[in-house]
Amino acid sequence: MALQSAIINVMKQAARKASVRLKRDYGEVDQLQVSQKGPSDFVTAADIRTERILKEELTRARPNFGFLMEEAGEIKGHNSNCRWIVDPIDGTTNFVHGIAHFAICIALEESGQITAGVILDPINEQLFWAEKGQGAFLNDRRIRASARTNFSQSIFATGIPFNGRGTPFDHETSLKEIGAVMSASAGIRRFGSAALDLAYVAAGRFDGFWESGLKPWDIAAGILVVREAGGIVSDLTGQDKMLDTGSIVAANPVLHKPLLDMIFNARK
Ligand code: IPD
Ligand code: CA
Ligand code: CA
Repeated sequence: MALQSAIINVMKQAARKASVRLKRDYGEVDQLQVSQKGPSDFVTAADIRTERILKEELTRARPNFGFLMEEAGEIKGHNSNCRWIVDPIDGTTNFVHGIAHFAICIALEESGQITAGVILDPINEQLFWAEKGQGAFLNDRRIRASARTNFSQSIFATGIPFNGRGTPFDHETSLKEIGAVMSASAGIRRFGSAALDLAYVAAGRFDGFWESGLKPWDIAAGILVVREAGGIVSDLTGQDKMLDTGSIVAANPVLHKPLLDMIFNARK
């Protein structure tokens, strides 16, 4: 059984509490009031409600912490060193289309460092979590990045820009990257939740993942979960600036460099 600190308990409890209502909403997805933020960027009533529940629960436990949330934006706390980074539903497009692949994500940032992360897939009841220096877990089981070393036998996940997301240049670049990786690997997956893509790298399901144009709340928790599972995470230039650049390459220790080089060269 994994050792867990008070802070991880707070995060798990908040995610679980929010997931109860979210699962009910998912069951009634057809009746959900859906408004549109952009052409393909749905904001559902469930998104906003989930974020509110998370904020209430986290504030009750740690009243001084600030927030960076997808819907509400930045909320400063009395304690300027600690903030929660929250995505109420990562994979909203899946959610709206009745595809059971989305997650609630909470990360804790302390003095600019991510120190704890929780990614809850409420439908499959899979809770991926990590605390700095303590390893990564799926529910109560320790997880590790894959041991696969042969690129041609490995599978990689990515995110593909779409109508309303990314410029025409980004769309072309994404096709180049996919072209390079698809011919060299055992396959590419586009499941529609960057947080779960990272969680799956941590669990050794995917051998690697890359994407650009992401926001801190998509990846903050996942970066820690992958690293605590023994994986390597960088941005597209190989630096540790994923939260600033929005680009990310995550993979097991053997495949990270080949994946990074392949994507970097494909973009030229
Ligand atoms: C999206 C998902 C998706 C990724 C998009 C994100 P959202 O988050 O993580 O996999 O490709 O770039 O915006 O909008 O569902 O929270
Ligand atoms: Ca997201
Ligand atoms: Ca979201």
